[in-house]
Amino acid sequence: MQTSDYQTIEQSNQLNQVVDFLPINGTDYLELYVGNARQSAHFFQAALGFQPLAYAGLSTGLQDRESYVLEQDKIRIVLTTPLVGNSEIGKHIDQHGDGVKAIALWVDDAQQAFETTTQRGAEIVYEPITETDEMGTVKRAAIKTYGDTIHVFVERKDYRGVFLPNFKAWNPIFKPESIGLKYIDHCVGNVGWNEMNRWTDFYANVMGFSQLVSFDDKDISTEYTALMSKVMSNGNGKIKFPINEPAEGKKKSQVEEYLHFYGGSGVQHIAVATDNIVKTVVEMQNRGIEFLQVPDSYYDTLQQRVGKIEEEINELRPLGILVDRDEDGYLLQIFTKPIVSRPTLFLEIIQRKGAKSFGKGNFKALFEAIEREQALRGTL
Ligand code: FE2
Repeated sequence: MQTSDYQTIEQSNQLNQVVDFLPINGTDYLELYVGNARQSAHFFQAALGFQPLAYAGLSTGLQDRESYVLEQDKIRIVLTTPLVGNSEIGKHIDQHGDGVKAIALWVDDAQQAFETTTQRGAEIVYEPITETDEMGTVKRAAIKTYGDTIHVFVERKDYRGVFLPNFKAWNPIFKPESIGLKYIDHCVGNVGWNEMNRWTDFYANVMGFSQLVSFDDKDISTEYTALMSKVMSNGNGKIKFPINEPAEGKKKSQVEEYLHFYGGSGVQHIAVATDNIVKTVVEMQNRGIEFLQVPDSYYDTLQQRVGKIEEEINELRPLGILVDRDEDGYLLQIFTKPIVSRPTLFLEIIQRKGAKSFGKGNFKALFEAIEREQALRGTL
């Protein structure tokens, strides 16, 4: 589909506010394709505090792949790996490394979600399928989004099982405690040169999302590199998808580095919310997670920039937690280094204290921190 086939974002925003043609209850799960699901599951348990939920593989009748499902409060992660060579999943991992394959959206009517979006131009991954076991029925359908990433519509109102039909409960003895992660706040996509508007138009016209904010290269640039970003949100605001594209700079931007190593467009980071970022970050550090560090001088001027906050700045400083304020309140955030071998996928931990924005005041300090990491990798 050509960009010119779409309405403008402004026209779509006005129309989408009248009727939400794609009601979404929330994120149902994120599915990652990984080289070794058994070991990735251990990482999500031990380092990130996810709890074991469900399993599908050889012991449930699958022959060619296995999946571990983990949860923490409202977040569900599915880790899937191939058990044989030359599989579609294996090819995906060969091209992209470990990464997010599916952002699954919880809907009341998967058939309707599928028909509405495909009539509006979405490309089909699979038509609605109904899966049943003794705990009930789940209906799912899937459409494509950027790169090889897909959206799955999940209708589960007639299901009482642990996850999906044909998964069994996974209940190992090893169960490290939760680290206080609550829900997925937003999920960011990196797309290729000049593709940002194509994908924000897709979310507006095909999915009925509205544009919350846009940042141009003047907002998000350092001495060396730049990127542009627009944030799309669904009708009830529960789903937020920022979309980034690279912009011209003196050196190779972090988005270009991502596109190179991911082999195209894909999910760059998953932002997860906590009610106590200090506690969560201390716990993550103790469990071996590494975070991007801003220079200590960031904290010298913090009070002047953000005004009064409930946390002690001296408590945030050694952890590297960043703060930003907007007209609605403030937020605390921090970014991990990549959690996979390729410099692609990372996590953001965010605690919102009224603020609805994304930490614009931290962009410069943050991107300079990423560039220091890029320089160490020799990819700046
Ligand atoms: Fe983010």
